[in-house]
Amino acid sequence: VTCSWKRPMKTARWWSAAILLLGLAVPGADGRPNKEGFGLPPYRPVVRFRHKDGIPESLRIKGFVGHNGYPGPCEHKYCGLGRHCVVNHETGQGECKCLDHCKPHYKPVCGSDGKLYQNHCELHRASCLRGHRITITHSEECFYKDDNCRLSDYRRLKTKVLDLHDKRYMGSHLHGAHKDNMAARKQLVDMMLKRFDADNNGQIDASELSQVIKQEGLSKDFSECTLFDLLKYNDVNDDEHLTKDEFYTAFDVYLLTLPDDQKVSVTTVTVGQSAVLTCAITGERRPPIQWKRNHQYLNSLNLEDINDFGDDGSLYITKVTTTHMGNYTCHADGYEKLFQTHTLQVNGKRHIVFT
Ligand SMILES: *[C@@H]1O[C@H](CO)[C@@H](O)[C@H](O)[C@H]1NC(C)=O
Repeated sequence: VTCSWKRPMKTARWWSAAILLLGLAVPGADGRPNKEGFGLPPYRPVVRFRHKDGIPESLRIKGFVGHNGYPGPCEHKYCGLGRHCVVNHETGQGECKCLDHCKPHYKPVCGSDGKLYQNHCELHRASCLRGHRITITHSEECFYKDDNCRLSDYRRLKTKVLDLHDKRYMGSHLHGAHKDNMAARKQLVDMMLKRFDADNNGQIDASELSQVIKQEGLSKDFSECTLFDLLKYNDVNDDEHLTKDEFYTAFDVYLLTLPDDQKVSVTTVTVGQSAVLTCAITGERRPPIQWKRNHQYLNSLNLEDINDFGDDGSLYITKVTTTHMGNYTCHADGYEKLFQTHTLQVNGKRHIVFT
């Protein structure tokens, strides 16, 4: 008996549910089949039912919900971190765009570009805007990165980095050679350039520097300066990359040349005339030219007769006398091994003899 009266109740409920469904299904205006193709017309009332107050504007902008309540072009589009899908109103398609802004909250992270970001979102957004990958580095490098790196500390850092690479990666017969041999130094710096430039595009960016810092364990050694300071001091054109030239400059590699036939140059001057001795050592970013006579630096002596060294480093003797005869040598500051010898010959005044 108990069973017999319970069943009709159930049936009655089922019927009322069916009527409700029919009521929803019948007034299908455009009767578009849904994605599964079951031909169940309009989807719209269900959506309306879910969002009683209409479709939230945020969902519409994001394209999760199309403008009639149909699934929007962004519904299943995942754009990745720092981006979101936006409906292009001309094409009706969903497009990935960089986030306009992040929710402001402060949970700083270090980016592989050596910068400190307010939070993860800001990092990914920056990465999107700049169009290159910035990863989160799990170290505190960038927290310490500030303006405390002085030039003297920076030089010390570079010397340490050179020595470290010299020890780790150069053949033992070359150890220390970079200190006074330009060819050896260039060899070492070329090797470093290759190691630093992980993606082999001929330039070094912050994320590559960050990798070197990690790989070589450099983050702990230097309290005030980090390898990122290479970008601060040596990124001359400010494009956030180090070119080969900038890298060479950073590590004092100068490709100086002196043609063999100019190793010795003879200049003959008459007493009372002026003389200009030009140093034939050339090279991009050539350090200042130093002149020596009898093992004495002339640049720092305040001589009255030899007081103009010109923009190009040439030696200028205002009024030559016989005391100026002899050898002068020039070299680029710091590279004494490559020098040019100028021999100055002085003729006595020619007397015109009347007969
Ligand atoms: C000057 O230099 C030339 C070339 O190196 C050398 O032959 C000559 O002996 C030098 N003269 C003096 C006085 O040092």
